[in-house]
Parts: sequence; structure tokens; C-alpha cells
Amino acid sequence: MRTGRWLPAAGALVAAMALLAAPVPDGARAAEGRCGDPAQRPWCNTGLTPEQRTALLLPELTADEKIALLASDDPFGGPLGGFFEDAHADTNRGIERLGIPPVYMADGPAGVRQGKATALPAPIALAAGFDRDAAALYGGTVAWEARHRGNDLIFGPTVDVLRTPRNGRTFEGFGEDPYLSATLGVPWVKGAQEQGVMTSVKHLAVYTQETDRLALGMKVDPRTLREIYLPPFEAAVKDGGAATVMCGFGQLNGRWACQDDAVLNKILRSEWGFKGFVPSDHTAAQDTAGAANGGLDMELPLGMKYNAFLLKLAVAQKKVTQAAIDGHVGNILRTMFAFGVFDRPAYPNDLSRIDRTASETAARRIEEGGITLLKNDGALPLAAPKRIALIGRAAREAPGGFGSAKVVPFTTVSAQDGIARRAGAGTAITHHDGGDRAAAANAARAADIAIVFATDSQGEFFDKSCLTLECGEPLRGDQDGLITEIARANPNTIVVLNTGGPVLTPWADQVKGIVEAWYPGQEAGNALARVLYGDVDPGGRLPVTFPVAENDAPASGNPAQYPGVNKTVTFSEGVMVGYRHYDAKGIKPRFPFGYGLSYTTFAYSGLKASTKAVQVTVTNTGDRTGVAVPQLYIGMPAAGVDVPQPPKQLKGYTKVTLAPGQSTTVTFPLSARSFSYWNEEAKAWKVADGCYKVMVGASSRQIAQTGTLGACG
Ligand code: BGC
Repeated sequence: MRTGRWLPAAGALVAAMALLAAPVPDGARAAEGRCGDPAQRPWCNTGLTPEQRTALLLPELTADEKIALLASDDPFGGPLGGFFEDAHADTNRGIERLGIPPVYMADGPAGVRQGKATALPAPIALAAGFDRDAAALYGGTVAWEARHRGNDLIFGPTVDVLRTPRNGRTFEGFGEDPYLSATLGVPWVKGAQEQGVMTSVKHLAVYTQETDRLALGMKVDPRTLREIYLPPFEAAVKDGGAATVMCGFGQLNGRWACQDDAVLNKILRSEWGFKGFVPSDHTAAQDTAGAANGGLDMELPLGMKYNAFLLKLAVAQKKVTQAAIDGHVGNILRTMFAFGVFDRPAYPNDLSRIDRTASETAARRIEEGGITLLKNDGALPLAAPKRIALIGRAAREAPGGFGSAKVVPFTTVSAQDGIARRAGAGTAITHHDGGDRAAAANAARAADIAIVFATDSQGEFFDKSCLTLECGEPLRGDQDGLITEIARANPNTIVVLNTGGPVLTPWADQVKGIVEAWYPGQEAGNALARVLYGDVDPGGRLPVTFPVAENDAPASGNPAQYPGVNKTVTFSEGVMVGYRHYDAKGIKPRFPFGYGLSYTTFAYSGLKASTKAVQVTVTNTGDRTGVAVPQLYIGMPAAGVDVPQPPKQLKGYTKVTLAPGQSTTVTFPLSARSFSYWNEEAKAWKVADGCYKVMVGASSRQIAQTGTLGACG
């Protein structure tokens, strides 16, 4: 049983952490029937609803026990967790006296961050797949492994919509479009929770940069909030049934994210009907009363604000009511009942239960589905070259992002390993890291084909200071220069990018092919080889726009927009985020949102549009089986001069595999929401009067079929 908690002001916090709690041994949590006998403990009756069970249990808790449930309390699993191979990110140890089980938690969105795990391709690669089934497989795989590391809750997926490609966590999310992020977040959450693990969708509400993240003030108008930044959370809660939503850092319109009554109480709970609980991002809680009244249920990683001393003081000073505390405890207990945590044995931390082959297959398939072919002047698929020169250090690695979404892979298949295996003994493969340019160029010259690998470096805590490969990853030297030199040495040069998001590609015209393989996960080389050799069609389409020049990117060139002035960022671009920005400003991207080549070609015909659905026929017009990703965009009528509409917005997509000559008719279902904008006066979604443009094509800039709906006169 737990006993009290330490005071936050104690300078001896670290010493207290060492004295008060040791990591909970596995044996202690393996007991069956953790809730207990319903005859003695009526809340253990599984015939009752989670609400009924919570109502029975809550009065049994002492004031201290209630408070103890409101924070993670295993310092070895929290901030110090990284030092221990098996440590969880956070642990709430429960109340043994009443059969309240512990909740073990782990990061994260790209695989489990707890010792070794299967490193899946970065979430941005999943997003490039435009594939809801792949998202379910992804969430399911992460959760399955999290479960067998003894976790009840996984911190993921990250569904923050990308505002600037300089964001250090670009790799960790699903890109720049709210509809794509929402429709991938939902199956991710469902797939994960089907494995018996709760998810934490993060980070509510607006989290778009690492620079000054802990203190950043963000000014965002209500329409932009509703149309761009909130939809993925709304969908994850309403359609995905997410158990928890993690509140983030910074202040949105003057309110700290983890005590933002307007977002956490009014929008999340009252409007969306959220029934789960809200854990804080690490150290995001600001003050005890603010958090308790503003909607925070569980403080992570420790009870710095939610501890017995401060909460009792706040109650005594009438800043917080006991009812508010009971409400937070109730949210946690009800969620634990609803997700069966009381009614099953603890999940053993047992690596041997992970079916690593299944996870590996998932990692490979998701990566194949996300590899995006950006340019192909006939060099791909490879026609069994006899001599291949691989250039660049990344050919021997599987680059990934750093921070809480970093995963230590079980094993890694590098590009070199994967290509060598696929090519077989008859092919001579050389590798040069590119440090010695002349040697690398000579190797390229002597080969039938040169493949240059370039990568950026990104992760939590820092934004990228610019979008070139050089400044993104200074330790790798002049990668742009290397590419240019190799392209001069061998006209058959292909570039493979292992980047977490958009980079500038000034050499694009000089090379025969460009493949964006993202941060590829541990199956990097196998997936890449299969795509390069054409065993599978490249399945990816861009979930982020690649700009021609640094300042073409959204929120560029105006410090008030980004990175902020006096730690304040003004989202004055409003809803013009991602391709909406390029479209509205008439800026030609290097590679547009939604773009990616197949090894075959497709034609679109027979568009039929109604307010219920849009249909179009897709035909494979080439001579290979291939993957098409038809996309539906809608152009809304401006609803008054103060409501400018983006020229187009993604409202549907699907992914189909077609044999040569084969046709299929795809349907994009629509709802009133597809035609709605957020009306600030009514504080509600409204359908504007006027003419709607319907656009279907292979990317946001390759519209093949158009139509109209509404009053088009
Ligand atoms: C990150 C979260 C993460 C948490 C726990 C924070 O720094 O922002 O995304 O879940 O750490 O590791």
C-alpha cells in the first residue's frame, strides 16, 4: 500500500525519490483478480457500469489516497526512467488496499520507448501511406509490444497538425492536414485499444514548435483552432474512443494547456463528450488550483502540483473544491473500469511474448506503403544493375528522430544490407560514406548506378534552424554538394532521403530519381530494396509540402508568426496551413501535398458528385500493377469577406491496387462537416451558401476531374 507523498518544495526531491520508491517488481503486479471479491468490494462487480463502479469506490478512498491517484509516483520510471532498461515512462501505483491496480505507461508514437522494441517507420511515413488499415496495424503493433512490456497505457499517437516543417517533431506526427491526421489517428487508437492498451492522444491543444515550447504563448483564433488544430483530437475522442488525451505545453490564448478550462472542460468534455482522463505532458502542470479547476486529471511525471500538501492547502483556502478533486479521481477510475484494468491480471513484462516476426512484417509493410517516389526519369525500378555504388553514411544506418518518440530497435536492416540481400551474389556493391568526395565520385563513376543517401537530424527539444540538408544535419557535412558531385560522376544517380520531413532539394534537376524513405524504422533496408527493385510499388504520397525555397514554407519570414517574439507566436496565417498556404499565395511547391509517383500510370474519369458522396473511376493505364491514391479536395465558397477559404481542402482519400488495364470506381463519403466552416458568431459549424468546387486527382496539384455542388448559377 502506498504511504503519503513528498512535498514539492523539498530541495531533497531527488533524495526523496531514492528513498520513497523503488521500481515495482514484476512479481508484485502479476496477482490475479486485482479488484477482488465483489462480495467484499461491490465496485468489483463486473455486471455494473464503469460509472456505477466508480460511484461505489470513490467514497471508500481517504483524502490522501484520492490525491495519490492524481499523479505518477514512480520516480525511477519517470524522469529517471531512461537510466533503467526496463523502466516505464510513468507509473501510477494504484491503491492495493482497495484493489485499484497500478497503471504503467510508456512512450510512444513510433514504438515502445522502454528498452528495445520494434522500431516502426516514423509516424510521418505512416501518414505518407494514406492508409487507414496501415494506421490500425501500426497502433496495434505498438500496443501489443507495450502490453508485453507490462504497460496499460501508451503515449501516442501524436496528432498535432504540422504548422512549420522546421518543427523538430515533424517526423512524429501525421503532417500538415487535419483531415489526414484525424483519419489516421482514429484507426491507430482503435487498433491499439483492441490490444487491451489505453492510448493517450497528444498534445492537446496546439503544439507546433519546440522553440520555447515550455513557455510559449500562442495566439490562435477560434476558427483556426476548430478547423486546423482540433479535428484530429475531436475524431480520436468521438470516433476512436481514446481513453486519455495528454495536454501539452505552452499557453493558448493566455491559458496554459494543462489548465485550459475552455479546451479541457468545455470543448473536450462537454462538447465532445470525452469520458476518459487527461494526463499532463511531463512538467506541463503549472499551479495546483489552476490545474485542478482547469481540467487536468493526472499530473506526470510526479506530483509537483498534485500532492497532498498543495492540494489540501488549496482546498483549505477554498481555491479548489473537494468535488473537483473527486471529479478527477472519478475520471481516472471510470476509465480504468471501462478499459478493464481492474478485471484482468497485470500484463507481465515479458519480451518473449512479443511476436517479433509479426512486428517486423508490420514495420516493413508500413514502410513500403510510405516510401514516396518524388522523381523518376526511368532509373527505377532497378533493372538488375551489376555494379551499384552506395554513397552516404545513412546507407549503413536506419536514421530516426530523437526525444520521447525515439525507439531502440531490436535489430536493424540497413539499406546496404537490404539491397545486397535483394540484389544477390551477382551484383557488386560498394559503399563510401562520402567523407572523401573524390573516392566516392570514383566509386560512382565505376558503377552502373549510384544511390546517394542523405538525411536530416530532428527530434524533440529543438526546431531545425533551416530546411537545407546541411543545416539540418551539420555533422554530415555538405550533403547537397555530395549529391551534385555524384550526379556529375554518374548520370544514373538516385537520391534516397531519410528525412523526418521536408528538406530543400536544389539538386533535383540533376539526378535521375528521388525517393523519400523518411525515418524508415528497423526494416529500412528490406522495404527500400523491395521498392527500388519494383517488387512492390512505392505506396507513399506526401503528407507535407516540399518547398522550393526556405521562405516558401508557411510561417516563414515573419518572426511574429515563427519562432515568435518575446516567446509569443501569432498564428496570423489562420487556416492557411500547409498546402492551403501554397495554394492561397500561389506559391509553386517543389513537391506538392499528396504527390508521389507509382511505377505505373493512372487515369481518372466519370466524376459523380452529390452532397452525400463523390465517385470517380480510376484506371491503371500502364503495364505494371500499381498503387493509386485518389484524393478528393473541396473548394468552399467564401462565407463573407472575413472568412477567406483555402482554395482546396482534403475531404477524402483512398488507396487502391490495380493491375494493368484494370479500373475501379472509388467512393468518398461526405457529411455536412465536409462542407462546413467554423462560424465564430454562432460558435458552431455552418454550411456556407454558394458554389462548392469538387476536385479529384493524384495530388493537391494534379487535379484530374472537377465538378461543382451547391448554388453555382
Ligand atoms: C513529450 C511527450 C512525452 C513525455 C514523456 C515529453 O517531453 O512532450 O510527448 O510523452 O515527454 O516522455
